[in-house]
Amino acid sequence: MVGAVEMSLYEAIRTRRDVRAEFTGEPVDDAVLWRILEAAHCAPSVGNSQPWDFVLVRNRATLRKFAAHVAEKRLQFARSLPPERAATFDPIKIEGIEESGTGVVVVHDDARGGPHILGRASVPETGVYSTVLAIQNLWLAATAEQIGVGWVSFYDAPFLAELIGLPAGIRPVAWLCIGPVTEFQRTPDLERFGWRGRRALADAVHYEGYDAGREQ
Ligand SMILES: Cc1cc2nc3c(=O)[nH]c(=O)nc-3n(C[C@H](O)[C@H](O)[C@H](O)COP(=O)(O)O)c2cc1C
Repeated sequence: MVGAVEMSLYEAIRTRRDVRAEFTGEPVDDAVLWRILEAAHCAPSVGNSQPWDFVLVRNRATLRKFAAHVAEKRLQFARSLPPERAATFDPIKIEGIEESGTGVVVVHDDARGGPHILGRASVPETGVYSTVLAIQNLWLAATAEQIGVGWVSFYDAPFLAELIGLPAGIRPVAWLCIGPVTEFQRTPDLERFGWRGRRALADAVHYEGYDAGREQ
């Protein structure tokens, strides 16, 4: 297990990984988890609506049930792929639900803050963007604590909502597997396994307009 280290923000950004296979099986320390959640809770939000909540799941039976559901969704996705992509996908692990021992389900309440959310009137998605920013804060803080995070999105939202007893109107945005790790991979799994690599920044930056040339 790697220990907590002093880390600059840029270093946390550079070394953050989506973790699946490297969880030690030890639970994340409660005080550390709380610090990570405090970082998530510091996120910016449209109209200061703070539309997120965090459902912590450690019950073994619940983790197992969710993992079984995710396995089924993984199979469905694999079956939808052409043979060559299916072969590339086959060895890729997509979750560490049981191994991490802790699930943090980040959920979103679009009604939080009432009907007049300052800044959300023209772009309704800004509500859920805010919850996603809390996730990014959580992910970077966990990295600074040398704690692994793996985002799982292979699920049907109604299944997960029922599993953790979400009231109507509150929707899951992410299941995050959180726990100590043996190591952080240097290269994203999807790149290591040949699924998809990173784009160059220069390909993502546009000048003055999307189609108007790029800097030479
Ligand atoms: C919205 C979102 C959903 C994701 N869902 C999954 C998932 O279901 N399973 C998985 O293994 N990784 C998932 N990931 C992780 C990505 O595969 C990962 O971020 C990407 O391959 C880049 O790797 P890195 O995070 O290690 O840099 C998800 C990431 C995001 C942002």
